[in-house]
Amino acid sequence: MSQSLIQDEMLLKDRNVVVIDVLRASSTILTALINGAKEIIPAESVSVAARISKGLGNSVLCGERNGKVIEGFKMGNSPFEYTPEAIKGKVLIFSTTNGTLSITKSKFAKNCVIAGFLNMKAVVNYLAELNEDFTIVCSGKLNDFCIEDSVAAGMIIHELEEMKGKGYYEVLDSGYISSKLAKLLAYKNTKADKSKILCVLKDSEHGKYLSSLGFGEDLKYCSELDMFGKLPFYRNGVLKLKETFEAEEKEKSKMKRVNISSKPNSKE
Ligand code: MLT
Repeated sequence: MSQSLIQDEMLLKDRNVVVIDVLRASSTILTALINGAKEIIPAESVSVAARISKGLGNSVLCGERNGKVIEGFKMGNSPFEYTPEAIKGKVLIFSTTNGTLSITKSKFAKNCVIAGFLNMKAVVNYLAELNEDFTIVCSGKLNDFCIEDSVAAGMIIHELEEMKGKGYYEVLDSGYISSKLAKLLAYKNTKADKSKILCVLKDSEHGKYLSSLGFGEDLKYCSELDMFGKLPFYRNGVLKLKETFEAEEKEKSKMKRVNISSKPNSKE
């Protein structure tokens, strides 16, 4: 499903959602969390990002418009900026043109995982294990179709069908055509192929635009297949790795808190 079709976030309520923005939000979010960002707060607009940052104090404003760092923000949307030195232990407030819109529209999802080629296998394994219905949201470009997100979505569907067998999932037309597209453009024989994925990114509209801005290396990086086995999750308004959420849940469940509410000035 294209991000632009989600006019109402209730559409994704209680669903398992996979958000894809290969170029580049998915890839940058994953990189930032792997490199030690404490958490990432996605913001749907520049003004929302600025408001959150004011309220939070010690955080870093990050993101792009037209592929370039937003005026007054500290970091842009190139995964290469998100080194451990730059972001370890920090709270990042992140606003991008399309990717963070898809994520914030998934705020009522049952589960929301962020996917790209960098963590393809981990996403496929997660969905296979989850064994439930799911919706893939392709971020696209400025409310339009984009080929790199469709190919990644198609790869997820194709790999799951290979694992579970054809007919296991009921796939809608958009998913069907995406998996055919992925097979055609991103596979050599029966295997997904990194160099073919790179060709897709280089030939894509947004890929060409990013290259014209000097971000050619970002395309190479985002085309890497299965570089990381990690899953960024969006829960309670923040992005963290799945394992971080799970560790926090475990800690919380150990604590038993008792709250006593008192009104010291009350005459009653
Ligand atoms: C987006 O969210 O639209 C993209 O990540 C744009 C970009 O490549 O910076």
